[in-house]
Amino acid sequence: MKKKLTFLGIETSCDETAASVVQENSDGTAKVLSNVISSQIKEHKKFGGVVPEIAARSHVENIDFIIKRALDKSRKKIKDLDGVASTTGPGLVVCLHVGYNIGKSIATFGKISFVPINHLEGHALSPSIENKISFPYLLLLVSGGHSQYIIVRGLNNYKQIGTTIDDAVGEAFDKTAKILNLGYPGGPCVEKFSKLGNKNSFVLPQPIINRGGCNMSFAGLKTDVLRKSKNIKSDQDKYNLAASFQETINKILRKKTEIAMLEFRQKTSNNSTSPFVVAGGVAANETIRKNLKDLSKKMNFKPIFPSKEFCGDNAAMIAWAGIQRYKKKLFNKKSEIVRSRWPLDSKAPFLKGPGLKL
Ligand code: KG4
Ligand code: ZN
Repeated sequence: MKKKLTFLGIETSCDETAASVVQENSDGTAKVLSNVISSQIKEHKKFGGVVPEIAARSHVENIDFIIKRALDKSRKKIKDLDGVASTTGPGLVVCLHVGYNIGKSIATFGKISFVPINHLEGHALSPSIENKISFPYLLLLVSGGHSQYIIVRGLNNYKQIGTTIDDAVGEAFDKTAKILNLGYPGGPCVEKFSKLGNKNSFVLPQPIINRGGCNMSFAGLKTDVLRKSKNIKSDQDKYNLAASFQETINKILRKKTEIAMLEFRQKTSNNSTSPFVVAGGVAANETIRKNLKDLSKKMNFKPIFPSKEFCGDNAAMIAWAGIQRYKKKLFNKKSEIVRSRWPLDSKAPFLKGPGLKL
């Protein structure tokens, strides 16, 4: 019988210290033997956002313990592994170095392969941990730093068709939570308090909704939340504004996803039911899941969302991406560079900054 590959994954790109042991299944999905995540919410809460030096110190303090726990839980030893995969970008460089250094050291001393992984590729492939998905598929990646529509033609074959020209969706959630003083981390707090509000009470802007293809913009929306927050008088007003913000995000995502789906059909000449994969921390939002599931039905796409434990940052998605790159020999020493910026589609235009015309 063919040996099933087993990898240790390590993730330290931002404020989660995570390690996981993953084994491939014969049907193209993965068996997650352990998935250990230590969140630094408490450390960053008082600052209302991630402080890089504090995050890096916390990774250093925790990483060896987290890796040991992931190995113990999986009942595997380093000698049982085929390789180690660490996130090497994009993210906070001081944080990425922690995961890279320990991953590389374990691989070197264990005489096994080391595979550097793009964090965005980890998210992009995360739904295939639990679902057998065939290429090509349309991906909406929505996290704290990225909002992108990508045609995934295969491993290492990504075509970006839309992106945000300013803030990421997760960033808009985080800033809205901060403006309204709803708590940290922002996204889940906005979702929670929106349940207490009326989503139709405030009319908020939907920037570039009728232009720019499936590119997106959220900065103007956030600024309007700030403006309107100055006139709110009660907690109920606050919940109404949060709910209206979330509803506006849903309207923007629905319209832009519809455009992306049409573009996907055109570019892939595929008219049968195609997979539509939503990944990243924001994919955990129930209202967004429902909204995009409804749209997929209308547009003849099969919606696929990762389980919530694989939406936010985790190391199982990094180990899983490592296994896939290892199988296709898509890794080498030269790519072992820790980088703050690392687009999935290297040919995609950079759509931020002044003078941009859409
Ligand atoms: O993928 P992720 O864990 O980290 C990055 O790679 O950025 O995404 C984190 C982002 C944060 O902005 C967080 O507020 C957002 O995902 N998020 C949510 C929800 N859960 C996490 N946004 C909206 N609703 C949620 N339930
Ligand atoms: Zn992420």
